Amino acid sequence: MKVMIVGSGGREHAIAASVAKSGRVEKIYCAPGNAGIAQIAQCVPIGAMEFEKIRDFAKENEIGLVIVGMDDPLVGGLVDVLEAAGIRTFGPRKNAAILEGSKAFSKDLMKKYHIPTAAYETFDEAEDALEYLHTQAKFPVVLKADGLALGKGVLICNTLQEAEDGVCTIMTERKFGAAGNRLVIEEFMTGREVSVLSFVDGKTIRIMSSAQDHKRAKDGDQGLNTGGMGTFSPSPFYTPKVDAFCREHIYQATVDAMAAEGRPFVGVIFFGLMLTAEGPKVLEYNARFGDPEAQVVLPRMKNDMVEVCEACIDGRLDQVELEFEDNAAVCVVLASDGYPVKYDKGLPITGLEHFENREDVYCFHAGTKTGEDGKTILTNGGRVLGVTAKGGTLAQARKNAYAAAGWVDFANKYMRQDIGKAIDEA
Ligand code: AMP
Ligand code: GLY
Repeated sequence: MKVMIVGSGGREHAIAASVAKSGRVEKIYCAPGNAGIAQIAQCVPIGAMEFEKIRDFAKENEIGLVIVGMDDPLVGGLVDVLEAAGIRTFGPRKNAAILEGSKAFSKDLMKKYHIPTAAYETFDEAEDALEYLHTQAKFPVVLKADGLALGKGVLICNTLQEAEDGVCTIMTERKFGAAGNRLVIEEFMTGREVSVLSFVDGKTIRIMSSAQDHKRAKDGDQGLNTGGMGTFSPSPFYTPKVDAFCREHIYQATVDAMAAEGRPFVGVIFFGLMLTAEGPKVLEYNARFGDPEAQVVLPRMKNDMVEVCEACIDGRLDQVELEFEDNAAVCVVLASDGYPVKYDKGLPITGLEHFENREDVYCFHAGTKTGEDGKTILTNGGRVLGVTAKGGTLAQARKNAYAAAGWVDFANKYMRQDIGKAIDEA
């Protein structure tokens, strides 16, 4: 079978590596991909939002399965376009991807179906949001742009002044564009965060091994929010008790709610959970694999990725049990110094050959491209590489990941030194 992956980051590289292990795959394509993905797939110069081009390419090349990795094309309806052309596609249709595409939708869904989450109000007008902040809000308070905003549309405001500025940024100045047409104002929660990814076939849900992200740019969770500076899996804080609670109150309830709303969800639901003193609550849903969560979860998955995707598409996930290796993985993101604000690109990367033919360490490419000589690999983004290592324990995996992170170099290489350090407190 020929498989095509849509996206260009570390997540898509991890998906491609997982697909490459399937005995049933003859060739992998990726649109648009990157220099690392190009080592295991044929990258085609089609953007993730060029739906017609993706459809035509998939038809002409007899692609048997398309896996959509990124949020934008999912929320924009790529799956619907491909399905209409008879192309088998793994990912939610537009009417289900709204679970990630609109925070107001997901909050209303949780309220209606009694799924635990932070208390909230939704506003269409800046004036009404300001009135609420003046009269009813408790601080800190959380402001969320309704739509997709590259993971940057969430503001935690400690004071009324900060919150007023936040409403202005999101709704008046439209810093996140149309994502700011509506605003969710939410109760601030405290606790540890856990990411749980799952496969869903519209009715059945199968949970993957847990993970934890590190969203802030600097050590000790300081600095600006980023797309994610590193991850580990499993999370020692995701205990059997937490798992049992989430199975009873969150996972199946979400899948059933989507089905009841006439929006059956097929694909990956990513549950961003906060383990509060009152129990686990949903921070957010994503309609896709997490990045960099996929880079620690997928290397530990024993199942054939293509078979699981097909079981989801065909509605027979109830016949599949997911299996994960009894070990741990840590991913350290190597970024360009200055990310997420301002940084240089186009710098040569050395040492990548150390990762060739290894099963225990991976170098997933997030932002790279091949130089004009057709050989040199250059940095091409804020997050450049995700170095993942496995180990018998999280502490060992962490040691291995930091050792491997030293094998590669580029002029403005920056990484956090404390990925997975929380493990020591568990
Ligand atoms: P989201 O994109 O909704 O996951 O939000 C990004 C980050 O903001 C989360 O990973 C949390 O660290 C933080 N956050 C979001 N909502 C809340 C909340 N209600 N209380 C505290 N922190 C939050
Ligand atoms: N790592 C968080 C995300 O993928 O949204």
